[in-house]
Amino acid sequence: MVLAATGDRLPQVVYWGAPLPLDEDLETLHRGHELDVTGGMLDENPDLSLCPEAVRTFPGQPGLILRDGDGTPLLPKFCYASDEQSEEGLSLTYADEANGLILIFEFATDPSTRIITAKTRLEANRAVHLHWLAAPVLPAPQQSDEMIDFAGRWTGEFQTNRTAWSAGMRYRENRTGRTGHEHFPGLLIPLTGCTNTKGEAYGFHYGWSGGHKMIAEELPDGRRQIQFGHAARMETQAAKSFESATLYVTYSHKGLNGCAVSFQRHLRDRIVTWPQPDRPRPVHYNCWEAVYFDHKLDVLKDIADRAADLGAERFVLDDGWFGQRDDDTRSLSDWEVDPRKYPEGLHPLIDHVHGLGMTFGIWFEPEMINEDSDIFRTRPDWVFGAEDQTLGRQQKALNMGLPEVRDFIYDRMAAILAAHPIDYVKWDHNRVLPMPDADQTRGSYALIDRLRADFPHVEIESCASGGGRIDFGIMKRTQRVWLSDSNDALERLRIQHDAALFLPIAVTGSHVGPRRCHTSGRIFDISFRAWVAAQRHMGFEMDPRELDERETAVLREVTSWWKHNRSWMLGADILRLDSADPAVMAEQQMTREGDKFVVFAGKAATSDQIAPRPLRLTALQPDARYRITLMNRGTAPALSRGMPALKDGPVEVSGAWLMHHGLTLPWNYPDTMWVVEGQRL
Ligand code: DGJ
Repeated sequence: MVLAATGDRLPQVVYWGAPLPLDEDLETLHRGHELDVTGGMLDENPDLSLCPEAVRTFPGQPGLILRDGDGTPLLPKFCYASDEQSEEGLSLTYADEANGLILIFEFATDPSTRIITAKTRLEANRAVHLHWLAAPVLPAPQQSDEMIDFAGRWTGEFQTNRTAWSAGMRYRENRTGRTGHEHFPGLLIPLTGCTNTKGEAYGFHYGWSGGHKMIAEELPDGRRQIQFGHAARMETQAAKSFESATLYVTYSHKGLNGCAVSFQRHLRDRIVTWPQPDRPRPVHYNCWEAVYFDHKLDVLKDIADRAADLGAERFVLDDGWFGQRDDDTRSLSDWEVDPRKYPEGLHPLIDHVHGLGMTFGIWFEPEMINEDSDIFRTRPDWVFGAEDQTLGRQQKALNMGLPEVRDFIYDRMAAILAAHPIDYVKWDHNRVLPMPDADQTRGSYALIDRLRADFPHVEIESCASGGGRIDFGIMKRTQRVWLSDSNDALERLRIQHDAALFLPIAVTGSHVGPRRCHTSGRIFDISFRAWVAAQRHMGFEMDPRELDERETAVLREVTSWWKHNRSWMLGADILRLDSADPAVMAEQQMTREGDKFVVFAGKAATSDQIAPRPLRLTALQPDARYRITLMNRGTAPALSRGMPALKDGPVEVSGAWLMHHGLTLPWNYPDTMWVVEGQRL
């Protein structure tokens, strides 16, 4: 990334992308970047700076919009003040003396993950009102036809949108107050011809959980700019200092996978802090879809026995253990064990779970309150938003900006965590907020940070009706995401495939659901359900009493395969494959060294052509030889009548052949998964 400034004006990124020779003359690059001028243009093109200024006739959206304390609009103009540089960091300070403002840009590069982080801070000599502050603004390539951003819904997270570039802007703004299923704050810009495995791409992610705004704008002169920041006007008070969240950016010449691998590694190795980094990620059992609110000690013990027998190593007690929580209309915020359901407290269940060799986790929804709760009856003023607001799942949010609210939640949660051997919290957030407010997000962060400081051994899973709060801001404080409430293996296959553009295996929870999926009504064979869960951090979330003998055996076998492979798989990169057959959704999970991999080829539909198309692998050494084993070849159906080599046993072939010809897999039904292991020889 090359920054250059004209005189004392704000700097602009004049180049970012593939590495340039270190002796490149940057003055020349700056001059070489300058655009020509013709009729109908200003005599000089305004810079696309790190914070484009309206006052310099910038022909697009400005990077900063603010008003003075009395409401007068301000039109800042910044000039160079100072800079600080280190091996991997750069901090640039610019001042607007007339308006009493200082703007600070901070960059850091991580040569190992290939992520650059960037942040903008604004300081004023008196309280001002902020409307919009972009993280450092970057140019986007003009060799790209389209951009990819993300939408979604409950049980349908991480849907990719491809939008063609054209004059004007694509504006995404999330005003729901939480990251949301609808607005994952990410953007990928593939250059023309880029696929999962080939070509160039740029990636962006804004690490903030309160709702973001994104501008991708093509200016009249053809230049393109990308702005990311908090949703507009979510700073509700005048203040002397504001800052953007961290913007994570990367460039790839290895297709979308290059961006995905950078984000996956950066999240896993730089952002998430693991309480016990050396402990293998445990197989989960979560009781939600088995019992919902109907907690009975003997039933839960029976379920725990069966879960442990299948291979579970952590038992998570979901919603329903506290207050009078018999359904979702009541008791949120009454975080005390329900004596009707647990007359002797939680210890008998926890002791039983521990006796089976599993650890114990528990569900909270800390930011929320039901009107039918003891706390609401005593402190209705703790609610966030208007009294007559529309409820969401029959609940309101607490005002997380109030220190006394945070103290109250802390005390209740800390009391439970201190009194019980609990090593895991599933932290839910099931409704959008009545309006965006940055204090709400900062309040949630402060509460989590305090709990983590006092209970450092407790891991936290970020859940919000499934994947409604997934971003690198929340992941600084948590270790797992509940990616979706959909346990429908077919839907899950797609959701986790697209989420892999940002999320690594180690943080992505994936559970084997009930035989008939509770959110789609569909029935899938246990083998498909188990292999889809085995692609990520594996768990079970069904009533194990429904499993017949065959299902139990399959699930045990896949779980044991996962445990056997997790030591390398959880640190592996997920490489999405370019499948020539749209019915096949395939990925290659490979160690950083490239010596070991597993390919999951999920058949998401019946193919148009009768025989499977060869599946090309990626990122192998062309000259190296690999032993390739179709791990579950024994499950080929009777309708697979031929004998492709892989059905017969392992084959040894070159990386070149695997990448240019590809695997010929046996015929299979839809809703099945082939699992292929690869070992470099
Ligand atoms: C929504 C979550 O996504 C579910 O997994 C479950 O925890 C419920 N909330 C509990 O109310």
